[in-house]
Amino acid sequence: MPPKPLSFLQGMEGYITPQNKVDDDGFKYRLCYNEGAYGPSVRALEAAKAALAQSHRYPDINYTDLRKAIASKYTLDASRIVCGVGSDELITVLVNGYVKEGDEVIISKYGFSLYEVATKLVGGKPVFVPENDLRMDLNAMLKAVTKKTRMVFIANPNNPTGDCITRSDINAFLRELPPDILFVYDSAYAEYIDDEDYSDGFEFVGEEGRVVVLRTFSKIYGLGGLRVGYSYASRAVTECMNIVRKPFNVSQVGQAAAIAALGDDDFVKKSRTHNVIWRENLFNALIEFGTRPYDSKGNFVLTRFKSSEQAASMFAHLKSNSILVRPMAGYGLPDCLRFTVGQEQEMLALFAAFKNFNWN
Ligand SMILES: Cc1ncc(COP(=O)(O)O)c(C=O)c1O
Repeated sequence: MPPKPLSFLQGMEGYITPQNKVDDDGFKYRLCYNEGAYGPSVRALEAAKAALAQSHRYPDINYTDLRKAIASKYTLDASRIVCGVGSDELITVLVNGYVKEGDEVIISKYGFSLYEVATKLVGGKPVFVPENDLRMDLNAMLKAVTKKTRMVFIANPNNPTGDCITRSDINAFLRELPPDILFVYDSAYAEYIDDEDYSDGFEFVGEEGRVVVLRTFSKIYGLGGLRVGYSYASRAVTECMNIVRKPFNVSQVGQAAAIAALGDDDFVKKSRTHNVIWRENLFNALIEFGTRPYDSKGNFVLTRFKSSEQAASMFAHLKSNSILVRPMAGYGLPDCLRFTVGQEQEMLALFAAFKNFNWN
């Protein structure tokens, strides 16, 4: 008899389910992963190339310069930053550090799907809280707390819905959340937002508190392929994460590119402006063609089609036009598709394909 995986893993679906899997080879336009429209900045790319020459060396195990650069940009305590192989790794690090078999983790119904997968991988129980028309319901999340709750995840803005919660609502939520529950505030798309009432989350993190902020270089900085994310947390949580994370997790190339990217404010500003303009154009086009797009603060828009069949034929139609978008059946939203805001020519190709589609 071949060895069996742990009982709670049997029959479980991972992140890469057949429904989630996008066959992404050979497409001209990739509007399926919420990658930064402009790719990496020239400065980040140059730094990455220079770092390649040191490929025989293990990277700095503590990514000291990267932590310093992040701390100085946002006025943070560098010793409470942990870097990871994308923020993906840090999600699993947190779950591994705090959740055991049978523990509950609260996730909004359409929260980022890795929260569920990471929870199940340790035998934890994801508790899904219904949303109001794809908007997160913080009161319902509070009501879902039980004695077994160990962690709450919120992506703000949320992927795939684009929903965004204000600073004051997060503060009110935190006042009610029992202090022994870890609150993971994932602001992967924070750089796209320039609103007064939005918080990237650092202000919620106390030296002794239970809030963890997750950030990434995969989105506006266009470094998804180099896999660099980071967290900011209290001393105790940071200590735990450093025990759980892998040594040498972030490559030297990734560290160097991320440092250079952080210093390139013009690139970020340009990307943010581009995103605001083309996200609005995308939103309006989706309305014009009779779909129901949801307000989004990220670099993507989720829209609802007349039916699952229409969403599926749009997906196939776009594929035949070499445009790949994100199917949503894996999230239980088969009548929806998510579109990443790409470069101008990508968006124009998308709009042209909308025009050629048989909407009846
Ligand atoms: C909300 C959210 N969190 C985390 C991630 C993971 O990003 P990465 O692992 O590339 O840093 C993503 C990626 O799509 C995301 O949308």
